[in-house]
Amino acid sequence: MSRRIVVAIDGPAGAGKSTIARAIAARLGYIYIDTGAMYRAVGLWAVRSGIGLDETHKVEELARHANIEFSAGAASVILNGEDVTKAIRDPQISDAASKASAIAGVRHAMVEAQRRMAEDASVVMEGRDIGTVVFPGADVKIFLDAKPEVRAERRMEELRAKGQDVGAETVAREMAERDQRDRTRAESPLVQAPDALYIDTTGLSIEEVEEAVLRIVRARVSNGKEVVR
Ligand code: DC
Repeated sequence: MSRRIVVAIDGPAGAGKSTIARAIAARLGYIYIDTGAMYRAVGLWAVRSGIGLDETHKVEELARHANIEFSAGAASVILNGEDVTKAIRDPQISDAASKASAIAGVRHAMVEAQRRMAEDASVVMEGRDIGTVVFPGADVKIFLDAKPEVRAERRMEELRAKGQDVGAETVAREMAERDQRDRTRAESPLVQAPDALYIDTTGLSIEEVEEAVLRIVRARVSNGKEVVR
C-alpha cells in the first residue's frame, strides 16, 4: 500500500485555487476537497434556519451537526442529503460563509471533518488554512495569489457565467471586505505557511499554473517518498 499524499492549496478568493486544485486532483487521481464549500454549507444552513451569524453558539451547533459530503470529483456538494451546489454560490451565502468561518467552534468542526476526509486517501485540499492548520505536515503546500483587480475580475466572470448580473464595483468591494475579514480574524487567519511555495497567477494562464503546480507536486512526492498512482 502506498502512503497517502496531501497537497494543500491555500490563498485568497479569486487566486485560481478551485480551478487549479480540481485539475491537479484529476491529473494525479487524488480526491479534490473544496473546504470553502464546507463553510458555505454551514452559512447556508444558518441563513435558511433563520439563525443570525452573530449567534455564534447556534452556528457552532449547526456546524457540528452538518453532514457535508462531496460527490465524486466534487462536482456536487451535499448538505444533510440535499444537493446545495448552486445554493452555496449565492453572494448572500458568500458573506454568511465568511462570517461563519470566523467562529472558532465552526472551524474546529470543519477541520476535524477535513482531516477525516483525508484519512485513507490522497487529496488535493483547497482553502485558507490547509497548510497552516489542517495539515501542517502536508507533503506539498502551495499559496496561490493574484492582484486584487484580477481576482475581482475573475470572480465577476464566474458569477456572470452563472447568470448573476453583478457590477464590478460591488464584486470588488465585497471581495475586499471578505479578504479583510479572512486575513484579520483571530482564529486561523489567512496567512501563507512559511514552507508554502508562493505563486502569483496574475499574468499566468490556467495551463501555466497547472503545469507549475504539477511539476512541484511530482518533484516533492517522488523525492524519496512513495507515490500514489
Ligand atoms: O473559498 P470560498 O470563497 O468558497 O470560501 C468561503 C469562505 O470560507 C471564505 O470567506 C473563506 C472561508 N474559508 C476559510 O475560512 N477556511 C477555509 N479553509 C476555506 C474557506
